[in-house]
Amino acid sequence: YAVIWWWSSWLSLLSPDGSLGHFTILFFFFPKKIFSLDLGGISAIVLNGYDAVKECLVHQSEIFADRPSLPLFKKLTNMGGKCLLNSKYGRGWTEHRKLAVNTFRIFGYGQRSFEHKISEESIFFLDAIDTYKGRPFDLKHLITNAVSNITNLIIFGERFTYEDTEFQHMIEIFSENIELAASASVFLYNAFPWIGILPFGKHQQLFKNAAEVYDFLHELIERVSENRKPQSPRHFVDAYLDEMDCNENDPESTYSRENLIFSVGELIIAGTETTTNVLRWAVLFMALYPNIQGQVQKEIDLVIGPNKMPALEEKCKMPYTEAVLHEVLRFCNIAPLGIFHATSKDTVVRGYSIPEGTTVITNLYSVHFDEKYWSNPEVFFPERFLDSNGQFVKKDAFVPFSLGRRHCLGEQLARMEMFLFFTSLLQRFHLCFPHGVVPDLKPRLGMTLQPQPYLICAERR
Ligand code: HEM
Repeated sequence: YAVIWWWSSWLSLLSPDGSLGHFTILFFFFPKKIFSLDLGGISAIVLNGYDAVKECLVHQSEIFADRPSLPLFKKLTNMGGKCLLNSKYGRGWTEHRKLAVNTFRIFGYGQRSFEHKISEESIFFLDAIDTYKGRPFDLKHLITNAVSNITNLIIFGERFTYEDTEFQHMIEIFSENIELAASASVFLYNAFPWIGILPFGKHQQLFKNAAEVYDFLHELIERVSENRKPQSPRHFVDAYLDEMDCNENDPESTYSRENLIFSVGELIIAGTETTTNVLRWAVLFMALYPNIQGQVQKEIDLVIGPNKMPALEEKCKMPYTEAVLHEVLRFCNIAPLGIFHATSKDTVVRGYSIPEGTTVITNLYSVHFDEKYWSNPEVFFPERFLDSNGQFVKKDAFVPFSLGRRHCLGEQLARMEMFLFFTSLLQRFHLCFPHGVVPDLKPRLGMTLQPQPYLICAERR
């Protein structure tokens, strides 16, 4: 596996547009829809293409809903992860997922005023961009703050200013961990956990960062729950503490202070790292293709106008903008391998026996480049999401949020954020590269694919 990884790194360097990477290699070297790998003693299968992913995650959804017991996650959660994203499929996951889905609805997209709160955040975001007065700058920091503030409103009931260095530091080291989690050294740690005793290596940096994030979140949770009135929740943290109270006599309950901290951490990073990177890629592609940017702006001017804040009800009247955002999600593959799954029982797929406890790698990248479902998948072409009348059309093989029981629980929130931030940005600014120089388009590899750091000029339209 290490050899494949190493070779694929070289091939990704050699490809002219930088788009060939580890994930296409997994697809091309192994054109089979399903094949097995031995990750240093961890037996795994890779699912390639839409049919295989759907067959497992949808048709056998319960069997494929587990997560692997990787030493990394065991070490991070100290207890095998009884919370949300990294949790095994069982009571802990069911309780935490249900609570998160409900609170995201109650304090987030279920509230009419929530859209207004995203628009308010957009104004802070746009005003901060305005301070650069068209000079080149890296947008990453501002997008990260704006996006994480939307999740912060649901989880803590408050936003953090763009000058809050403590919160920003926490997000930075957390997102560094997303990159470290896909590093060779951490792969080795998963295969040979005894290397954890070595005092150096990227796994040690990862554990140090995780401990710092844990302490920060612990204090933050204490602060936002200080004046809490039981059974009158104001945000996710209150709602979680209420559940803990209700279940205090149940010895099997999975609600605990520790799991609260892990859940909050998982929700913040899952919501921030992904949506931020989609918007960073979207900005990059708008500067790369000024004609596409112009067409989006034409639609914005026609449907919303130059001064009114964009509203979600306008989305259905803006098929081209929708198509562009969908093409960014397809082409850029923010979570190229999703999050690893595992089988909770022995099963058979396409005649292959797959034992219980097998790690399952869902190659979502291969689904978005599956030639059975996409013509010329290697071309960035938003029109593939439009019919002959220019209306938006959904595509089956569009799976950036994955499928089945573990599919992304923040999809609805992410879609709201992407539309409102993207349209308000292009309504106010024209985006271009400084001196027209196109930056490196090769993605930076981690659990997510993000663009290399780049500078952009945002000029008032
Ligand atoms: C464009 C933005 C986003 C993308 C592309 C994305 C993508 C994904 C993917 C591929 C998975 C893995 C699903 C699987 O295991 O099969 C996932 C899981 C998850 N996502 Fe997202 N996500 C996004 C935004 C968000 C947001 C905004 C939140 C919440 C604030 C969120 C929370 C989660 C959680 C908690 C899980 C784990 C679900 C579980 O294990 O039950 N995501 N996401």
